[in-house]
Amino acid sequence: MATIAGSVMTSHVPAIGNAIAKHRESDPYWKPFFDGYPPVRAWLDRVKPDVAVVFYQDHGLNFFLDKMPTFAVGAAPEYRNADEGWGIPTVKPVRGDPGLSWHIIESLVADEFDVTTCQEMKVDHALTLPLALMWPGGGDWPVRVVPITMNHVQHPLPSPKRSYKLGESVGRAIRSWDEDARVLVMGTGGLSHQLDGERAGFINKPFDLMCLDALVSDPQKLTRYSALDLVREAGAQGTELMAWIAARAALTGRVTKVHSHYHVPISNTAGAVLALQNDEAAIARAA
Ligand code: DHB
Ligand code: FE
Repeated sequence: MATIAGSVMTSHVPAIGNAIAKHRESDPYWKPFFDGYPPVRAWLDRVKPDVAVVFYQDHGLNFFLDKMPTFAVGAAPEYRNADEGWGIPTVKPVRGDPGLSWHIIESLVADEFDVTTCQEMKVDHALTLPLALMWPGGGDWPVRVVPITMNHVQHPLPSPKRSYKLGESVGRAIRSWDEDARVLVMGTGGLSHQLDGERAGFINKPFDLMCLDALVSDPQKLTRYSALDLVREAGAQGTELMAWIAARAALTGRVTKVHSHYHVPISNTAGAVLALQNDEAAIARAA
Protein backbone atom coordinates (compact mmCIF):
# COMPACT_ATOMS: atom_id res chain seq x y z
CA MET A 1 0.00 0.00 0.00
CA ALA A 2 1.04 3.60 -0.44
CA THR A 3 2.46 5.51 2.50
CA ILE A 4 2.42 9.23 3.23
CA ALA A 5 5.97 10.32 3.98
CA GLY A 6 5.03 13.79 5.15
CA SER A 7 4.16 17.22 3.97
CA VAL A 8 5.87 20.33 2.72
CA MET A 9 4.03 23.64 2.74
CA THR A 10 5.58 26.69 1.12
CA SER A 11 4.85 30.16 -0.26
CA HIS A 12 4.74 30.36 -4.07
CA VAL A 13 5.36 34.09 -4.79
CA PRO A 14 5.92 34.47 -8.58
CA ALA A 15 9.04 36.64 -8.06
CA ILE A 16 10.79 33.48 -6.76
CA GLY A 17 10.68 32.16 -10.35
CA ASN A 18 12.46 35.18 -11.71
CA ALA A 19 15.00 35.12 -8.86
CA ILE A 20 15.81 31.47 -9.74
CA ALA A 21 15.99 32.21 -13.49
CA LYS A 22 18.39 35.12 -12.87
CA HIS A 23 20.48 33.19 -10.28
CA ARG A 24 19.75 35.74 -7.56
CA GLU A 25 19.39 33.24 -4.70
CA SER A 26 22.43 34.71 -2.90
CA ASP A 27 21.49 38.37 -3.34
CA PRO A 28 20.95 40.15 0.01
CA TYR A 29 17.22 40.48 -0.73
CA TRP A 30 16.73 36.80 -1.57
CA LYS A 31 19.23 34.96 0.62
CA PRO A 32 17.18 35.10 3.85
CA PHE A 33 14.29 33.52 1.94
CA PHE A 34 16.21 30.79 0.06
CA ASP A 35 18.12 29.90 3.26
CA GLY A 36 14.92 28.23 4.45
CA TYR A 37 15.06 25.44 1.87
CA PRO A 38 18.31 23.37 2.13
CA PRO A 39 17.18 21.47 5.27
CA VAL A 40 13.89 20.60 3.54
CA ARG A 41 15.77 19.41 0.45
CA ALA A 42 18.06 17.27 2.60
CA TRP A 43 15.01 15.61 4.19
CA LEU A 44 13.43 15.02 0.76
CA ASP A 45 16.68 13.45 -0.44
CA ARG A 46 16.37 10.94 2.41
CA VAL A 47 12.62 10.32 2.01
CA LYS A 48 12.65 10.10 -1.81
CA PRO A 49 8.93 10.53 -2.52
CA ASP A 50 7.59 9.03 -5.75
CA VAL A 51 4.51 11.24 -6.04
CA ALA A 52 3.52 14.69 -4.78
CA VAL A 53 -0.15 15.46 -4.19
CA VAL A 54 -0.28 19.25 -4.34
CA PHE A 55 -3.03 21.47 -2.87
CA TYR A 56 -2.96 24.99 -4.31
CA GLN A 57 -5.06 27.64 -5.96
CA ASP A 58 -5.20 28.09 -9.72
CA HIS A 59 -4.54 31.79 -10.36
CA GLY A 60 -6.75 32.22 -13.43
CA LEU A 61 -4.85 29.86 -15.73
CA ASN A 62 -7.53 27.13 -16.03
CA PHE A 63 -10.44 28.65 -14.17
CA PHE A 64 -11.45 32.27 -14.25
CA LEU A 65 -14.19 34.25 -12.52
CA ASP A 66 -16.80 32.97 -14.99
CA LYS A 67 -16.21 29.28 -14.11
CA MET A 68 -14.74 28.49 -10.72
CA PRO A 69 -14.77 24.98 -9.27
CA THR A 70 -14.42 24.96 -5.50
CA PHE A 71 -12.16 21.89 -5.71
CA ALA A 72 -10.71 20.35 -8.89
CA VAL A 73 -8.43 17.33 -9.28
CA GLY A 74 -6.08 16.78 -12.21
CA ALA A 75 -6.16 13.36 -13.86
CA ALA A 76 -3.75 13.79 -16.74
CA PRO A 77 -0.55 11.95 -17.71
CA GLU A 78 1.23 15.31 -17.85
CA TYR A 79 0.54 18.95 -17.06
CA ARG A 80 1.79 21.78 -19.21
CA ASN A 81 3.08 24.88 -17.44
CA ALA A 82 2.07 28.33 -18.63
CA ASP A 83 2.64 31.81 -17.27
CA GLU A 84 -0.58 33.59 -16.42
CA GLY A 85 1.14 36.96 -16.60
CA TRP A 86 4.12 37.24 -14.23
CA GLY A 87 6.83 36.82 -16.86
CA ILE A 88 8.24 33.67 -15.24
CA PRO A 89 10.10 31.35 -17.65
CA THR A 90 8.00 28.24 -18.22
CA VAL A 91 9.25 24.73 -17.52
CA LYS A 92 8.69 21.51 -19.44
CA PRO A 93 5.52 19.50 -18.74
CA VAL A 94 5.24 18.02 -15.26
CA ARG A 95 4.60 14.25 -15.09
CA GLY A 96 1.21 13.15 -13.72
CA ASP A 97 0.02 9.93 -12.10
CA PRO A 98 -3.44 9.16 -13.53
CA GLY A 99 -3.72 5.99 -11.42
CA LEU A 100 -3.46 7.90 -8.15
CA SER A 101 -5.53 10.79 -9.53
CA TRP A 102 -8.48 8.53 -10.34
CA HIS A 103 -8.16 6.67 -7.05
CA ILE A 104 -8.30 10.01 -5.19
CA ILE A 105 -11.23 11.23 -7.32
CA GLU A 106 -13.21 8.03 -6.73
CA SER A 107 -12.52 8.14 -3.00
CA LEU A 108 -13.44 11.84 -2.76
CA VAL A 109 -16.74 11.38 -4.60
CA ALA A 110 -17.57 8.33 -2.45
CA ASP A 111 -16.84 10.62 0.51
CA GLU A 112 -19.34 13.20 -0.83
CA PHE A 113 -16.78 15.67 -2.22
CA ASP A 114 -18.19 16.29 -5.70
CA VAL A 115 -14.99 17.52 -7.29
CA THR A 116 -14.36 18.72 -10.83
CA THR A 117 -12.18 16.21 -12.70
CA CYS A 118 -9.65 17.55 -15.21
CA GLN A 119 -8.18 15.19 -17.78
CA GLU A 120 -6.42 18.19 -19.19
CA MET A 121 -5.01 20.89 -16.94
CA LYS A 122 -2.34 23.54 -17.09
CA VAL A 123 -0.28 24.28 -13.99
CA ASP A 124 0.82 27.73 -12.86
CA HIS A 125 3.48 29.16 -10.55
CA ALA A 126 1.67 27.82 -7.49
CA LEU A 127 2.61 24.26 -8.49
CA THR A 128 5.88 24.70 -10.38
CA LEU A 129 7.70 27.11 -8.04
CA PRO A 130 7.29 24.92 -4.96
CA LEU A 131 8.72 21.98 -6.98
CA ALA A 132 11.59 24.19 -8.18
CA LEU A 133 12.30 25.18 -4.56
CA MET A 134 12.37 21.53 -3.45
CA TRP A 135 14.38 20.18 -6.39
CA PRO A 136 16.50 22.96 -7.95
CA GLY A 137 18.05 22.42 -11.35
CA GLY A 138 15.54 23.30 -14.02
CA GLY A 139 12.53 21.04 -14.04
CA ASP A 140 13.60 17.38 -14.10
CA TRP A 141 11.67 16.73 -10.95
CA PRO A 142 11.84 13.27 -9.39
CA VAL A 143 8.11 13.15 -8.53
CA ARG A 144 4.92 12.59 -10.46
CA VAL A 145 2.19 15.01 -9.38
CA VAL A 146 -1.52 15.03 -8.60
CA PRO A 147 -2.70 18.66 -8.66
CA ILE A 148 -5.68 19.57 -6.45
CA THR A 149 -6.85 23.15 -6.88
CA MET A 150 -8.95 25.01 -4.32
CA ASN A 151 -10.88 28.21 -4.90
CA HIS A 152 -9.17 31.00 -2.95
CA VAL A 153 -10.02 33.54 -5.64
CA GLN A 154 -13.74 34.25 -5.76
CA HIS A 155 -16.17 34.30 -2.85
CA PRO A 156 -17.84 32.20 -1.61
CA LEU A 157 -14.64 30.37 -0.70
CA PRO A 158 -14.64 26.98 1.01
CA SER A 159 -14.04 27.23 4.77
CA PRO A 160 -10.90 26.14 6.62
CA LYS A 161 -13.07 23.39 8.16
CA ARG A 162 -14.10 22.11 4.72
CA SER A 163 -10.49 22.35 3.53
CA TYR A 164 -9.44 20.26 6.52
CA LYS A 165 -12.06 17.62 5.70
CA LEU A 166 -10.91 17.60 2.08
CA GLY A 167 -7.36 16.97 3.25
CA GLU A 168 -8.48 14.16 5.57
CA SER A 169 -10.36 12.52 2.72
CA VAL A 170 -7.38 12.80 0.37
CA GLY A 171 -5.15 11.34 3.11
CA ARG A 172 -7.48 8.33 3.48
CA ALA A 173 -7.51 7.90 -0.31
CA ILE A 174 -3.71 7.90 -0.54
CA ARG A 175 -3.39 5.40 2.31
CA SER A 176 -5.83 3.03 0.57
CA TRP A 177 -4.03 3.19 -2.78
CA ASP A 178 -2.87 -0.28 -3.70
CA GLU A 179 0.58 0.74 -4.97
CA ASP A 180 3.91 0.57 -3.24
CA ALA A 181 4.56 4.32 -3.48
CA ARG A 182 5.82 6.99 -1.13
CA VAL A 183 3.66 10.08 -1.29
CA LEU A 184 4.48 13.66 -0.31
CA VAL A 185 1.54 16.00 0.32
CA MET A 186 2.21 19.64 -0.50
CA GLY A 187 0.26 22.81 0.28
CA THR A 188 1.28 26.03 -1.44
CA GLY A 189 0.57 29.74 -0.99
CA GLY A 190 0.46 32.11 1.98
CA LEU A 191 1.29 33.04 4.48
CA SER A 192 -0.28 36.43 5.19
CA HIS A 193 -0.52 38.71 2.16
CA GLN A 194 -2.81 41.10 0.37
CA LEU A 195 -1.94 42.18 -3.15
CA ASP A 196 -4.38 45.04 -3.71
CA GLY A 197 -6.98 47.30 -2.15
CA GLU A 198 -6.63 49.52 0.91
CA ARG A 199 -4.69 46.93 2.86
CA ALA A 200 -2.21 46.06 0.06
CA GLY A 201 1.02 44.90 1.68
CA PHE A 202 -0.77 43.71 4.83
CA ILE A 203 1.22 41.13 6.81
CA ASN A 204 0.33 39.69 10.24
CA LYS A 205 3.41 38.07 11.73
CA PRO A 206 1.86 36.99 15.08
CA PHE A 207 -0.98 35.26 13.22
CA ASP A 208 1.44 33.54 10.81
CA LEU A 209 3.63 32.28 13.64
CA MET A 210 0.57 30.98 15.49
CA CYS A 211 -0.44 29.10 12.30
CA LEU A 212 3.04 27.62 11.86
CA ASP A 213 2.83 26.22 15.42
CA ALA A 214 -0.76 25.02 15.09
CA LEU A 215 0.00 23.22 11.82
CA VAL A 216 2.51 21.05 13.66
CA SER A 217 0.63 20.15 16.81
CA ASP A 218 -2.97 21.39 16.75
CA PRO A 219 -4.18 21.86 13.16
CA GLN A 220 -7.86 21.55 14.14
CA LYS A 221 -7.47 24.90 15.91
CA LEU A 222 -7.32 26.58 12.50
CA THR A 223 -10.72 25.16 11.49
CA ARG A 224 -12.37 27.56 13.97
CA TYR A 225 -11.68 30.45 11.59
CA SER A 226 -14.10 31.23 8.77
CA ALA A 227 -12.79 32.17 5.32
CA LEU A 228 -13.60 35.81 6.12
CA ASP A 229 -11.72 35.54 9.43
CA LEU A 230 -8.71 34.52 7.35
CA VAL A 231 -9.16 37.54 5.07
CA ARG A 232 -9.23 39.75 8.18
CA GLU A 233 -6.28 38.07 9.93
CA ALA A 234 -4.07 37.13 6.99
CA GLY A 235 -5.12 39.43 4.13
CA ALA A 236 -7.26 38.73 1.06
CA GLN A 237 -4.67 36.33 -0.41
CA GLY A 238 -3.78 34.90 3.00
CA THR A 239 -6.73 32.59 2.37
CA GLU A 240 -4.17 30.41 0.54
CA LEU A 241 -3.40 29.14 4.05
CA MET A 242 -6.29 26.74 3.40
CA ALA A 243 -4.01 24.76 1.07
CA TRP A 244 -1.63 24.28 4.03
CA ILE A 245 -4.56 23.21 6.24
CA ALA A 246 -5.66 20.62 3.66
CA ALA A 247 -2.12 19.26 3.31
CA ARG A 248 -1.73 18.96 7.08
CA ALA A 249 -5.07 17.21 7.45
CA ALA A 250 -3.90 14.45 5.08
CA LEU A 251 -1.30 13.33 7.64
CA THR A 252 -2.69 10.70 9.96
CA GLY A 253 0.42 9.33 11.62
CA ARG A 254 2.65 10.78 14.33
CA VAL A 255 3.62 14.17 12.91
CA THR A 256 6.95 15.78 13.74
CA LYS A 257 8.44 18.98 12.46
CA VAL A 258 11.45 18.59 10.17
CA HIS A 259 12.01 22.29 9.56
CA SER A 260 10.28 25.65 9.42
CA HIS A 261 11.40 29.06 8.22
CA TYR A 262 9.68 32.45 8.11
CA HIS A 263 10.92 35.59 6.35
CA VAL A 264 9.15 38.92 5.76
CA PRO A 265 8.65 40.20 3.14
CA ILE A 266 9.17 38.47 -0.16
CA SER A 267 7.39 40.67 -2.67
CA ASN A 268 4.11 41.40 -0.81
CA THR A 269 4.11 38.17 1.12
CA ALA A 270 5.25 36.63 4.37
CA GLY A 271 7.46 33.88 2.91
CA ALA A 272 7.42 30.60 4.81
CA VAL A 273 8.18 26.92 4.51
CA LEU A 274 7.19 24.08 6.83
CA ALA A 275 8.19 20.43 6.44
CA LEU A 276 6.49 17.73 8.48
CA GLN A 277 7.32 14.05 8.76
CA ASN A 278 4.44 11.59 9.02
CA ASP A 279 5.15 8.33 10.84
CA GLU A 280 2.23 5.95 10.36
CA ALA A 281 4.17 3.06 11.84
CA ALA A 282 4.53 4.94 15.15
CA ILE A 283 0.74 5.08 15.47
CA ALA A 284 0.41 1.37 14.62
CA ARG A 285 3.12 0.49 17.20
CA ALA A 286 1.37 2.52 19.90
CA ALA A 287 -2.04 0.93 19.22
C1 DHB B 1 2.36 37.28 -4.79
C2 DHB B 1 1.99 36.24 -3.95
C3 DHB B 1 1.17 35.19 -4.41
O1 DHB B 1 0.74 34.16 -3.65
C4 DHB B 1 0.74 35.18 -5.74
O2 DHB B 1 0.02 34.14 -6.17
C5 DHB B 1 1.08 36.24 -6.58
C6 DHB B 1 1.90 37.29 -6.11
C7 DHB B 1 3.26 38.38 -4.33
O3 DHB B 1 3.50 38.53 -3.12
O4 DHB B 1 3.80 39.10 -5.17
FE1 FE C 1 -0.81 32.95 -4.74
